[in-house]
Amino acid sequence: MPKETTRIAIIGAGPAGLLLSWALRDAGIDSIVVENRSQDYVLARIRAGVLEQGSVETLTRLGLGARLATEGLVHDGIYLQFAGERHHIDFADLIGRTVTVYGQQEVVKDLVAAHTNAGSTIYYEAADVAVHDLTSTSPRVTFTLDGEQHDITADFVVGADGFHGVSRASIPTEAIMLYDRSYPFAWLGILADVAPSTDELIYALHEDGFAMHSMRSPSVSRLYLQVDPAGDIQNWSDERIWDALQRRLGIPGWTLHEGVITEKSITPMRSFVASRLDYHSLFLVGDAGHIVPPTGAKGLNSAISDVTQLAAGLVDHYAGDDTTLAGYGEAALARQWRTQQFSQWMTEMLHRHPGDLQSAAFDYRSQLGQLDYLTTSLHAQRSLAEQYTGLPL
Ligand code: FAD
Ligand code: DHB
Repeated sequence: MPKETTRIAIIGAGPAGLLLSWALRDAGIDSIVVENRSQDYVLARIRAGVLEQGSVETLTRLGLGARLATEGLVHDGIYLQFAGERHHIDFADLIGRTVTVYGQQEVVKDLVAAHTNAGSTIYYEAADVAVHDLTSTSPRVTFTLDGEQHDITADFVVGADGFHGVSRASIPTEAIMLYDRSYPFAWLGILADVAPSTDELIYALHEDGFAMHSMRSPSVSRLYLQVDPAGDIQNWSDERIWDALQRRLGIPGWTLHEGVITEKSITPMRSFVASRLDYHSLFLVGDAGHIVPPTGAKGLNSAISDVTQLAAGLVDHYAGDDTTLAGYGEAALARQWRTQQFSQWMTEMLHRHPGDLQSAAFDYRSQLGQLDYLTTSLHAQRSLAEQYTGLPL
């Protein structure tokens, strides 16, 4: 049975796990990453698309910014569309900050390439991943690979294994509370081989529901539609998707260009926060500890901010100072709750709420009032700009 020791055992090779391992390597701290999917699967997963300015700075500081600098699309703002009109919110003008459109898939690709070059230890396709002895100072991670049982002993275990992972589930139920909220809508997302029809992202509230136009490159568009969470992707032909996008995003004098749809899927929405991100020798980062609905583009950025804070704590720990590490959970949760309220606010303001005719009509008009205020008040726009481009750590 292969037995290994390392300082940090990281479960999950999503952006959070790969980035943490890379940040630790940069600081001379060794780690091992254990992932239950294949490397091809991890590389192919299409998810978030917008990086806060702070996330770009973190990736660049860690030597991961080369392709990001040439292929990332820097956006000065976003468009908000409602009642048939499109309004530009200019973050650069309002607060001197920007965001960068660069797919999560590209971030993961850069991380995998960097780790491969550096010869990092990442076990893919690990089955039966389990954590042990979390209350001790030498916790273990075990898994099977090619029929062989592996056993890693570490100083700390980091759960970067997403919402459905084993790490959070290893904390005794009496020691953790889960705060969550579901939404009566989901997003149907598509990737299409067509040049974006817009220079910056469009978030639209339409009577039929939310729609968004994002992008991945000068030749690939990413678009989203609010759909029923019980909806079946089989019922959404390409033609039906484009028709709905044309209706919800269309304004006079502007054309939405259509192209071949290369990927489509429906994602439910939820808000979720664990009451703690640390338990003895275990730390949680990213989706393992919290989930936001995607409207404010915060999922990936929250994972990056957790990792930045935890890496700083671990570096200080090995330098003999435990203050930052001891404060990790509280500091990361404080930032997360501010991010939660922003994501919830953006989501509820921009989606059609189901309900009886009267209450749905009230909600819709109230949302239009909110958007009208937002697009006419510089104070409100600065607040949006500050939160969208990223709160400080
Ligand atoms: P993950 O990316 O989930 O990575 C966790 C990793 O752990 C995965 O590789 C998983 O295979 C692995 N793992 C799981 N269980 C185990 C186990 N038992 N053992 C070992 N490994 C395990 N955010 C946005 O901002 N905008 C979006 O449009 C958007 N779209 C999304 C669409 C989907 C379908 C999902 C699920 C999320 C989306 N998000 C979006 C959120 C964003 O992608 C996440 O916040 C981000 O991926 C978090 O990174 P992570 O590394 O914490 O978790
Ligand atoms: C994208 C996703 C988001 O959740 C968002 O708010 C903006 C853009 C995207 O996938 O491009």
